[in-house]
Order: sequence, then structure tokens, then C-alpha cells
Amino acid sequence: MRILAIESSCDETAAAVVEDGRRILSSVVASQLDTHRKYGGVVPELASREHLRAIVPVVRQALAEADTEYSDLAAVAVTEGPGLTGSLLVGITFAKSLCLVHGLPLIAVNHIEGHIHAVVMEAGAAGAVFEFPVLALVVSGGHTHLFQVTEGYRYRLLGRTRDDAAGEAFDKVAKLLGFGYPGGPVIDSLAPHGNPSAVKFTLARMKGNVRDFSFSGLKTAVLRWTEARDLTEEVERRKALGRKTGRPTVAQWLEVTPKATLDLLASFQRTVIEELLHRAEAAADEMGARALIVSGGVACNRGLRAAAAGRGLGIPVHFPTPALSTDNAAMIAAAAFLKLDRGEFAGFGLKAQANLTLA
Ligand code: KG4
Ligand code: ZN
Repeated sequence: MRILAIESSCDETAAAVVEDGRRILSSVVASQLDTHRKYGGVVPELASREHLRAIVPVVRQALAEADTEYSDLAAVAVTEGPGLTGSLLVGITFAKSLCLVHGLPLIAVNHIEGHIHAVVMEAGAAGAVFEFPVLALVVSGGHTHLFQVTEGYRYRLLGRTRDDAAGEAFDKVAKLLGFGYPGGPVIDSLAPHGNPSAVKFTLARMKGNVRDFSFSGLKTAVLRWTEARDLTEEVERRKALGRKTGRPTVAQWLEVTPKATLDLLASFQRTVIEELLHRAEAAADEMGARALIVSGGVACNRGLRAAAAGRGLGIPVHFPTPALSTDNAAMIAAAAFLKLDRGEFAGFGLKAQANLTLA
């Protein structure tokens, strides 16, 4: 049984063919990073236009690489939200047209559920058997959520960010310091060159739900740190490097980044990781989690992976491989199989839902 899935919620146009919920026959991702990088973040209008340009070749490529015809498909799945309305609309409209023309059922998938199923699919294919309840930490540029996942993949929201998402915090700090967009990968690769204990940041104190996250205080603390020093020259040098090379190497960044700034990056990253794992650990204990799933772009972070492994949580911790951590369509197909089993199909009235929640 094969599903073709389409994902266009943010700045990647993606299509994938997955067989039996486990086997990825193809997964094509056309990244728009080069378009958005010069603006320091995703520009929604440009994103929609790029999706329009990319959607046909990306879907064709996904089918060709999977050696799959429309007649081989059981359904077409598409991300219905959350995300940018204009971007979502491109994927949804295209998926609907395919279903109409080829007489296929349409399945609508929540992007956040997709991130969780990236791990379920990959770990499952490697032989992992999930025992419930599972704790899922979804950390990306748009989301920072903790879910309790019970038998049959039912979700309960345990906590969420009250302000910035974790990836957004990485992106904003990187931008402030002249490292360009997206910030996560750069900070990830520079953090090992700094001392994570050099700058003391405090964790957010949560009133109300103590499982919620907050990153705005940390972001402000980084801003204060930069204001207390004159960083204009080094920031300008990094911006110039970014403009010149597009995507500088670690060695090139190191040439224009003094030790004090590397220490700041390492300390910032460590604080974000602590904020995430501290709350995840408490939630896991409280609910008696049998496994932890971490997914979303920030799950690529090597410091986070090492810290989660080193923490001795006493339960299996599953991270997706980097290609399945960031936005992709294979994860949307994986989540769609669940709906195919349940016979949950979408109608042609399906709309983009920018603020769709999972629970
Ligand atoms: O899941 P994703 O591709 O898109 C969203 O749904 O948001 O996540 C992108 C986010 C960006 O904020 C990016 O900076 C962050 O994930 N990211 C990372 C790393 N790689 C990507 N953050 C920290 N460390 C990384 N290695
Ligand atoms: Zn995502």
C-alpha cells in the first residue's frame, strides 16, 4: 500500500512516497533557504511563490524515484496545518487536483503529528516497538510542544512555549549576532568551540503550567549581553562573510568569531537544551512515560542529542535522522497511514488551517 504525501507548510516544498507506513520509497525536499536567507527569515509571499514553482517537479520526482504511478497509490496525503496559509494552500490545492483527476482518496495530516510519526516510522522500521504512554517533544522553528501519546496515537498537550519556539530562539540569537538564517545549524556547529558554563543564564520560571516553555527571557538576556559589549565590528564582519560566501564553513565562522562570542553561543545552546530536557524529564516522570520521542528541526541539534542520551532518563529516547527531523513529506505519509487504517478521509472542502492544533 503506497501513499503519496505533500508537505508545503513553511519553506520546504516536499513530496514522498511511503509504502506500508514504514518503507520510504522516495522523499524529495526542495528547500527555499537560499531565497529567504537574504531576508533573515521566511517571507510568506515568497514562500507561496516558490511552492508554486516547485510543486509539480517535486511531486514528479518523488513518483519517479519511487517508480510509482498514480494507479499504484492508495491515497494522496497533504499537510492541512499548522503553517503559513498561502504555503499550505499550494500543497492542498495540488493534492485535491491529483485526487480529483486520478480518483484517489485525500488524507489531511497535521504537521505536528507528522513530526511525531517521522520517529515512529523510522524507529519502527529499525525494529523498535513502542510501549505507551510515550512522551513526545516536538521542537522546531514554529513549535515547542510536549505531548502525552497513548495507545492508538491519541494526544494530550502537556506543555507548550508561551512565546518563541526553540528553533526561533536559535534563529533570533544567530541573526542578532550576524550569523544569518537559519541559526540552529550554525550555533550547533560552533557551540563545541565555546565554554557552555561561561555565561550564566537562568531557566524560565513558569507560573501556572510548569510544563510550559519560555525562551523570550533567554533571548533578552543574550541581547543584554551583546549591548554590554561593542560587537558592531565583529557582527559586521560576519554579515559580510555571509553575503560573500552564502553558507560559510565552520572554519570561516571561527575566523570572525572571538572566544567570548563562542562562549556565549555554547552557554545559550546549553540553556535551551536544559530548558527542553528539564521539563521533558519532569513530564516523563510524572506520566510514567515508557519512551521519549524528540522531533522537529531542533532535534538535529547534536548537543541536544548528546544531552538526552547522557541524562540517563531510564527510558528509550528516539530521535529521527536529520533528514527526517526537519520538514519533509515522508513523515506526512507516515501519519497518513494511521488515518487510512481508520478510514479518515478529507473532503474536497479541505481548507488550510494556519493555527491547527494537535491537542
Ligand atoms: O522542523 P523545521 O524544519 O521547520 C519547522 O516546522 O519549523 O525546523 C526548522 C528549525 C529552524 O528554526 C532551525 O534553526 C532549527 O529548526 N534547526 C536547528 C538545527 N537544525 C535546524 N536548531 C538547532 N540545532 C540544529 N542543528
Ligand atoms: Zn516542521
